[in-house]
Amino acid sequence: MSLDERRKTIKELANLTDEEIAYYDGNLTNIADKMVENVIGTYEMPLGIATNFLINRNDYLIPMAIEEASVIAAASNAAKIARVKGGFTAYADEPIMLGQIQIINMDNIEVAQIEILRHKKEIIELANTCDQTLIKFGGGCKDIEVRKISDDMLVVHLLVDCRDAMGANAINTMTEKVKEKIKDITKGDVLLKIISNLAIYRKAYSYAIFDKEALGGEDVVDKILMAYEFAESDIFRCATHNKGIMNGIDALIMATGNDFRAIEAGAHSYAALNGYAPLTHYSRDKDGNLVGSIEIPMAVGIIGGATRIHPQAKTNLKILNVKSAGELAEVAASLGLAQNLAALKALSTEGIQRGHMELHARNIAISAGVPSEIADKVAEIMIKDKKINMEYAKEIFEGIK
Ligand code: MEV
Repeated sequence: MSLDERRKTIKELANLTDEEIAYYDGNLTNIADKMVENVIGTYEMPLGIATNFLINRNDYLIPMAIEEASVIAAASNAAKIARVKGGFTAYADEPIMLGQIQIINMDNIEVAQIEILRHKKEIIELANTCDQTLIKFGGGCKDIEVRKISDDMLVVHLLVDCRDAMGANAINTMTEKVKEKIKDITKGDVLLKIISNLAIYRKAYSYAIFDKEALGGEDVVDKILMAYEFAESDIFRCATHNKGIMNGIDALIMATGNDFRAIEAGAHSYAALNGYAPLTHYSRDKDGNLVGSIEIPMAVGIIGGATRIHPQAKTNLKILNVKSAGELAEVAASLGLAQNLAALKALSTEGIQRGHMELHARNIAISAGVPSEIADKVAEIMIKDKKINMEYAKEIFEGIK
């Protein structure tokens, strides 16, 4: 079906009004129609800018696409605290990603393992016939690992330098390219050939020293450290701790057209590598300030995929003004750390709900049927009266009417 036919069909089947079907009519609908299948329009998200970020002595304005109130404000706030002691210091590994090739039914697994290593150079050369642009920019398959998974399962890892691309396409093409060769070498059957999202060689790191006074005093530092200890020792808390980190990271990943599922999969599998653990770390420096750090796989690209096709993703990268995928990874890690610090600070002091609900008050007013032009006014009254709920929003609206 054409886009118009699809829209017409859905409208009829789901009994949508003209107004409802028009919600899907975004500026980018025609581009969206080329990106995925069965498109009927676009789905819009709020896009905000996190401020105050100083990373490796550069200022950044960070575009964030997220539906949750208070995330952008919280990140900006934590970044402001970090600025007191020089902001974030970040580093990104070389962009090495990993493609897996699964082999079974070998004559002998020990022989197959050593034979693959013996043919390493040929396999790498063959993989590197796939993408000449990547090679031109200094990327390509650089090395091979062989892992014995069980008595009859071997896995070959292609270690591929993806330069400024996320790399999934390049890697998947390479793993398929070397399939026959690996089959011949191992005398086995090759099954899966696919990237691994546990991007263990492509991590980003960031740290910041959060001034104890700017945080609210030594007592706050103590409480944040206790909150961190809670996440370290309890998986239920740790899941939410890491979720808070991903609030920031995902929003940037979405805004730049990157694959947020890949980033999520990488983050949580890395967190689980030695028993599920926090992705951030906290301690105190000699002066009693809080030192926060993060270490997280960060497979992001600034070329290829949606980063190239989606005009907003391209423009968001322009706002962010990063020159490489590594720089984007450094910003993402710093943002995740800021987000986590903001959450721990709020949770260990006044609780998350006051700030959250204040920022959420507008959403509540709109959900209660208050027109958007006066939602701010209604939200303001709810905050002042410390009664932030739908019933009260309706009551205020009736009063205004
Ligand atoms: C909410 O989206 C995120 C938090 O729950 C994170 C956390 O608890 O650390 C506030």
